[in-house]
Amino acid sequence: MNHTPDPSRLAAAALLAFAMAGAHAGDTTPVEQLGRWNAQAGAPGSAAQGKAFFNQRHGGEWSCASCHGTPPTRQGEHASTAKPIAPLAPAFNAKAFTDAAKADKWFRRNCKDVLSRECSAAEKADVLAYLLSLKP
Ligand code: HEC
Repeated sequence: MNHTPDPSRLAAAALLAFAMAGAHAGDTTPVEQLGRWNAQAGAPGSAAQGKAFFNQRHGGEWSCASCHGTPPTRQGEHASTAKPIAPLAPAFNAKAFTDAAKADKWFRRNCKDVLSRECSAAEKADVLAYLLSLKP
């Protein structure tokens, strides 16, 4: 038996690994989703407003930062269950905001928890503009 690896197979494996690392986890990108909410809001999101919105409480017990941390660049922890939450800022989490249905679902759920209503498109644009402004 010859155990020397076949160079052509090694090259193929390396290419495949590269292709998979470059693939998106979902159906969209953070920048595309920001574009969607900017368009719905009729104005570009403001990172400064998003930061204030994210860190402040809105009449309830929690802010967004209660679970996602501040800045949300490290793993967060659920405020009541202590379950780990992957970093929300896309530069620190390749999967963040790559699935439109997931982002919509969590915005709906989390905004209801924090604001007792859904977030407006302008608020979502602000939050995502803030998250995209966070760099390593
Ligand atoms: C009670 C805890 C909690 C609070 C408070 C909270 N979140 Fe979350 N959020 C979560 C959890 C848990 C997830 C799912 C994480 C996962 O599956 O990766 C999540 C996910 C998200 C996602 C989906 C990210 C993606 O990859 O698409 C968005 C957007 C989000 N939260 C926004 C917010 C905003 C904005 C606020 C404040 C209005 C907020 N969250 C407050 C727990 C919370």
